[in-house]
Amino acid sequence: MKLRDWILIGMALLAMAVDLPARAAGAVGASGGLLASGIHSDRLAWQHFAGIVAPAGRGRVQFETWAADEDIYTETPAWPGEDAGPRRLRSSVLQRVLAAHGSLGAPSGDCGAVANATSGNFPVEAAQPGQAPCFAEEVRRNLATYRYIVQNQLHTQAGLAAAYQKAQGGWRVSLPEDAVQVKADWVPVDTLVAWLGRNGVRLNAAQVRAQFHTTTAQDTSFAMVAMHISSKDAPNWVWASFEHRLNPGRCDTMGCNDSYGAARRRIVPLAGAQNGQYGDCAKTPALKKLLEVKRVAPAWHNYCLKASEIAFVAPGGEPLMHGNSFTERVAAGIPIKRSSCISCHASAGFSRDGSPYLKQLTSHPMGTVKLPAEIVANDFIWGILTINAVPVEQAKNPHNLDRTRITARR
Ligand code: HEC
Repeated sequence: MKLRDWILIGMALLAMAVDLPARAAGAVGASGGLLASGIHSDRLAWQHFAGIVAPAGRGRVQFETWAADEDIYTETPAWPGEDAGPRRLRSSVLQRVLAAHGSLGAPSGDCGAVANATSGNFPVEAAQPGQAPCFAEEVRRNLATYRYIVQNQLHTQAGLAAAYQKAQGGWRVSLPEDAVQVKADWVPVDTLVAWLGRNGVRLNAAQVRAQFHTTTAQDTSFAMVAMHISSKDAPNWVWASFEHRLNPGRCDTMGCNDSYGAARRRIVPLAGAQNGQYGDCAKTPALKKLLEVKRVAPAWHNYCLKASEIAFVAPGGEPLMHGNSFTERVAAGIPIKRSSCISCHASAGFSRDGSPYLKQLTSHPMGTVKLPAEIVANDFIWGILTINAVPVEQAKNPHNLDRTRITARR
């Protein structure tokens, strides 16, 4: 071969190498699809949503009566009774894991700083002294999920180590079809007023309380900005995310797709503008009827389905993007271009000693995901990170991190 050919081959290889990280640029926004049952995943997502946020008495909605991770991932799991104590939210487990891994600053307290304030033009300075802007999360699982996890002892590291042995004989972690899980993101009302204000939306605290679902935890009034739902209606689950209509940049980067509940089925991302407003996601008559039948409170009508996701790649082979403008982009610091619910959750697994497998999680996987042979898949459930999550007190002091029990497999 001539020198010129070598140069051309070299340039081609270089172009491929340069192209690798940019591959995600070819990712397309998820838009759900028809399930084997013949129902579209967008419709199914709204059916779950309506059931989950329907009133459950004592001022609570259904999912607020489900088991939180703190009820499950302990030596003595218990389904919450009627007299469940005061609600506690937590700082982001995902952030704590990424922080222990050195790729993020450690969060502090039960209400922690977001990982990427800039991406969402989220406030960083306290509006008043002593009230630093923060957010908190909770994960809750329905009875079917709770029973499966507890009966199969998948809630402790020792139980997972035993499950690893069972899996060598062909057993698989496989949740029942009626499993449903929720992850909700909450922002203190004062922080939310400041965040919206920075992005051209003037609401006072009373207006926020009227238009958002709110709760009190840790003596603070929180408003819900985002809700994820995963349901086992398909072998790879159905991945749906809901956003409050006022979330700045709600449809940035991937657009919003809702073929069932939104009068405008497809909203394309605003060109150039960041963290703009995408309107009120007016609802279809079918969805209005559904919310009415379930007696869903008016504040919930302000939430929009961003998209549902049921596949790893688009029909053309491009990796699918699906991320919440708050939960992934701002809170966890994962750019929407590098966010795919199904891909990141497909990498949830554990190793022989029952410790979670973190390698793929920390690289923000896109497209099809394959676990190494020596890792047992946890059926897309990441809650196992809660088992050994770095306690917040340790995460606050970086010098303590060596003592964390999170063991990353490299
Ligand atoms: C980069 C990885 C990543 C991406 C992307 C991601 N998640 Fe997760 N998710 C996690 C981790 C880690 C947890 C557990 C820790 C926590 O609660 O934050 C979790 C928790 C959850 C839970 C609670 C159930 C469980 O698995 O324990 C739900 C539901 C959920 N995510 C849905 C979604 C949806 C819907 C999307 C996309 C819109 C999404 N996730 C995107 C990593 C990811």
